[in-house]
Amino acid sequence: MNRAKPLPLVVLISGSGSNLQAIIDGVAKGLQVDIRAVISNQPGVFGLQRAEEAGIPTRVLDHKDFHQREEYDEALQSLIDEFRPDLVILAGFMRILTSGFVRHYAGRMFNIHPSLLPKFRGLHTHQRALDDGEILHGASVHFVTEELDGGPLIVQAQVRVETDDDAERLAARVLKREHQIYPLAIRWFAEGRLALNAQGRVILDGREQKQPVIFTPEQVVG
Ligand code: GRF
Repeated sequence: MNRAKPLPLVVLISGSGSNLQAIIDGVAKGLQVDIRAVISNQPGVFGLQRAEEAGIPTRVLDHKDFHQREEYDEALQSLIDEFRPDLVILAGFMRILTSGFVRHYAGRMFNIHPSLLPKFRGLHTHQRALDDGEILHGASVHFVTEELDGGPLIVQAQVRVETDDDAERLAARVLKREHQIYPLAIRWFAEGRLALNAQGRVILDGREQKQPVIFTPEQVVG
């Protein structure tokens, strides 16, 4: 199903914004979304520059200017809602979110995480995958719920862990896969094919997903 109007998005970042770039590049290739704003909690990060170069409005809401997490999230919510997005994209947004904020965007906020969830929630996922002797690692896109990195999974892309990998090399290969699956999940949502139902289950093309869509290391995403 094609929407008459591109899906309005707001993207939240804290850093380099390479996932943001993948979405911007997706738009150039026909992804039907309108990135209305990029918001960063960190001033001066490269992702803001990427947005400016693409002509996207940017805002900085620095968490250091707030005493309480609740206060920050309320201000962030007001700022996001000024842009009236149908979907909020966390793209390397390094903040723990309050439950009020998460509930406000229930079913309309995605996160990307650099592991094959539910394995390795939280930080340092690549080193942890190496330390645990994993053969497969990868990235996951999920709906955001109050459970940190624990929301319903939409899509995963795997990479094979090589014997001579270090965390940096592995991270680089995972990041490439992130750039493939994030625009894909957004496209499904923009096309009206993807939703979270009242029971918190992922619905794709009218079917309840028992597990995420999984791309094996050999499979091309698309
Ligand atoms: C990615 O690995 C993402 O999965 C994680 O933070 C990193 C952000 O990278 N949450 P970028 O800012 O999109 O380049």
